[in-house]
Amino acid sequence: MPAHAASPAAVNLPAHAVELRGLTKIYSPTGKAGPKHALKGIDLAIPRGSLFGLLGPNGAGKSTLINILAGLVNKTGGNALIWGHDTEEAPRAARASIGIVPQELNMDPFFTPREMLELQAGLYGVPKRDRRTDELLDAVGLLDKADAHARSLSGGMKRRLMVAKAMVHSPPVLVLDEPTAGVDVELRRHLWDYVRELNRRGTTVLLTTHYLQEAEELCDTIAIINHGQVVACEPTRTLLRRVDAKALTVLLDRDLTAPPATLEGFTVELAEPRRLIVRYQPSRQRVDAILAALSAAGLGIVDLSTEESDLEDIFLQLTGGAHGELGTLPPSGESGTGSVNDAA
Ligand SMILES: Nc1ncnc2c1ncn2[C@@H]1O[C@H](COP(=O)(O)OP(=O)(O)OP(=O)(O)O)[C@@H](O)[C@H]1O
Ligand SMILES: [Mg+2]
Repeated sequence: MPAHAASPAAVNLPAHAVELRGLTKIYSPTGKAGPKHALKGIDLAIPRGSLFGLLGPNGAGKSTLINILAGLVNKTGGNALIWGHDTEEAPRAARASIGIVPQELNMDPFFTPREMLELQAGLYGVPKRDRRTDELLDAVGLLDKADAHARSLSGGMKRRLMVAKAMVHSPPVLVLDEPTAGVDVELRRHLWDYVRELNRRGTTVLLTTHYLQEAEELCDTIAIINHGQVVACEPTRTLLRRVDAKALTVLLDRDLTAPPATLEGFTVELAEPRRLIVRYQPSRQRVDAILAALSAAGLGIVDLSTEESDLEDIFLQLTGGAHGELGTLPPSGESGTGSVNDAA
């Protein structure tokens, strides 16, 4: 929970900065392509004050979701509330509450960054005395480019300019669609710092990213979407706890037809007649317990190796990537082995 959530001033603030209820989107058929069911009933509540990450593979529906919030795409069904305002019933209030940095950068090449921010402030009716043009340019490291033509900015600079542009009306919710795609490592850090700082000062941030590390370092909560559905949504720490998983592969001295009963309590897979894969949680289980169990079954070990799981594995599992089909993960309540791999 954000620190300011319980302050007296927060009484009239919405508990959720963004709330989606059964949000669906079906794109009309285009050319030869039939209708595209891009969002299939998304329920998502983004707590006020959160730095929320939306992860998903290409085509998962991330931009569709964000563009609905931005008012750039019309939803097919369900509801979207921004800062408590329904995008359908109160579109102006909803739009005033949000700043969006779209994935596709579109900017007039002949404007300077300063002009662009001033223009945007004008569009949102921000009075001259309340404008923060220089402060914003400084925050994104573009003060020295304030009067350069936008076309002379690099891709990373353009993206940072878009972040500044999204903040001109000081919206309580900032949405960034792939904010650091094409931004080099150093500037990515700089942008992260800025996003963190905005969040610390109370802005709720929703970002999509392909970089698991980015989500891991930056976000307090992560939702993973795949094929237009939410497949996981939990605090980053909880999600990462699932990473507490390793796999021990053992080459045995004889063929088996089934895993030995002595390995009960571990998630075991007989990959080949002589090759066992035992998944375990290093924080709670030790390799020597596995070895002892094999020995108790009278099995000799010819060779062995271990492999770590990471957020990427979890992501791939949840999105049906390299690890094939996957249902829902076991609850994160640490029952059973808690292995990330025993859910299929
Ligand atoms: N205007 C459109 N018309 C028809 N189909 C569309 C349109 N925009 C997106 N789609 C389809 O909807 C699905 C979701 O696309 P979306 O852009 O939301 O995915 P994404 O998660 O943002 O992907 P990426 O990671 O590549 O940015 C995809 O199958 C895409 O082809
Ligand atoms: Mg996208």
